[in-house]
Amino acid sequence: MLVEKNVPLQAFNSFHIVAKAHALVRIASEADLHALLADPVLRASPKFVLGGGSNIVLTGDVKALVLKVELMGRLLLMETAKDFIVEAGAGENWHELVAWTLAQGYGGLENLALIPGTVGAAPVQNIGAYGVELQDRFDSLDAIDLQTGQVFTLNAAQCAFGYRDSVFKHGPGTAALPDGLAAGGHQLLGLKDRCVILRVRFALPKAWKPVLGYADLDKKIAEHACTQPTAQQIFDWVCQIRRAKLPDPQVIGNVGSFFKNPTVTPEQCVDIIARDPKVVHYPLADGSVKLAAGWLIDSCGWRGKSVGQAGVYEKQALVLVNRGGVDSPFGATGGEVMTLARAIQTSVYERFGIRLEPEPVVV
Ligand code: EPU
Repeated sequence: MLVEKNVPLQAFNSFHIVAKAHALVRIASEADLHALLADPVLRASPKFVLGGGSNIVLTGDVKALVLKVELMGRLLLMETAKDFIVEAGAGENWHELVAWTLAQGYGGLENLALIPGTVGAAPVQNIGAYGVELQDRFDSLDAIDLQTGQVFTLNAAQCAFGYRDSVFKHGPGTAALPDGLAAGGHQLLGLKDRCVILRVRFALPKAWKPVLGYADLDKKIAEHACTQPTAQQIFDWVCQIRRAKLPDPQVIGNVGSFFKNPTVTPEQCVDIIARDPKVVHYPLADGSVKLAAGWLIDSCGWRGKSVGQAGVYEKQALVLVNRGGVDSPFGATGGEVMTLARAIQTSVYERFGIRLEPEPVVV
């Protein structure tokens, strides 16, 4: 196991922000983690787990020991009466896993095509797109406790998935998690920075059915006059839709949606509609109403605006971009991104009374 010093992180974060890791260890096998934890100095140092870097904003050099997860492998683990159970290493590229499952004939992940990042990062924010969330196809995962070295397994309930949320986004003792969930003796009151996800298992339904009903996908159905699309067709359409409105992080640095879509009470929504009849909103099953954050930001006039090299994407106001090149030393800084983000939050709050919550983790 090699501890690399002063490692440039620009290529390891999808915003392509220039920053360094004071120290970085590549984790290519479970044995690497056991070796790391056997070293008393490394075991005691604060750690930062880096997957594809597609959901972080680096605001400076990272002082914690960076664990760069490169655990590979994907296989059909078993079949149950209802599902194919596919297992993938946490370091696998998410989109390549989706494409591989379809090539093997296992549908179910196609709506989640082209989401940047790794398999291990997918449960952390419960990635979602076009009517499917990771939790809908999740079976279980294995992780290693960075304090004890113990490997443990979590099911979906223990991951406490929510909208772009999970047990892995909360520190110990934080609220908003079900109390007392235990796994192999672990009190899951928040596992942020506490463990490394090693591998994830997905349950892909044998009785596959397309998940449609999302406006952009329904448009594709109408365009192609195709009422019974295959999983591969949906995969292709999702790729086309995403390429048309979201920037490719290998060309323009970004982390996807920068804010979560907020939910409001029906009364708040009526109030907002009275002022802005065009507000894009979706009623939810629990009676609350989800608002399109992209629309709120857009209607405050932010599309195309910039702070330094940090900008609001021209085709989707929910996406902040780095206007410097992906390997430019003069691109956006984390400070510029956060200044822009705060200015957007302030103007949306002043106009609509809604506080937008950032999606990425600010490091
Ligand atoms: N809109 C505007 N102006 C904009 C952007 C959006 O008016 O600048 C309007 C659109 O016209 C549309 C509505 O807002 O009526 C919603 O936009 P869109 O369909 O693009 O979806 P979204 O709510 O902005 C969410 C996810 C995306 C996911 C898509 C598709 C969040 C925070 N974002 O975006 O996820 O791909 O739905 O399911 O939930 C991500 O998390 O990184 C991400 C890209």
